[in-house]
Amino acid sequence: MDPETLETFLTNPTTMVRGTRMTQRFSNADERRAIIAFLGSH
Ligand code: HEM
Repeated sequence: MDPETLETFLTNPTTMVRGTRMTQRFSNADERRAIIAFLGSH
C-alpha cells in the first residue's frame, strides 16, 4: 500500500473504509509518519 493511502487511512480510518471496526484515528502527523516508516521497513 502506498504511503499516501496509509496516511489517509490512519488519519481517520472510517472516512476511507466505511463500516470498518478500526476506529483508532491518528491525528498526530509525527505518529502517522512513524507507523508508515515502520511498515515500510518490514
Ligand atoms: C498502532 C497502530 C494501530 C492501532 C492502535 C490499531 C487499532 C485497531 C483496532 C482497535 C482495531 C479493531 C479491532 C477489533 O475490533 O477487532 C483495528 C482493526 C483493524 N485495523 Fe488497525 N490499528 C493500527 C494500525 C493499523 C494499520 C497501519 C492498518 C493498515 C495498514 C490497520 C488496519 C486495520 C484493519 C484492516 C482492521 C480490521 C477492520 C475491520 O475488521 O473492520 N490498522 N485496528
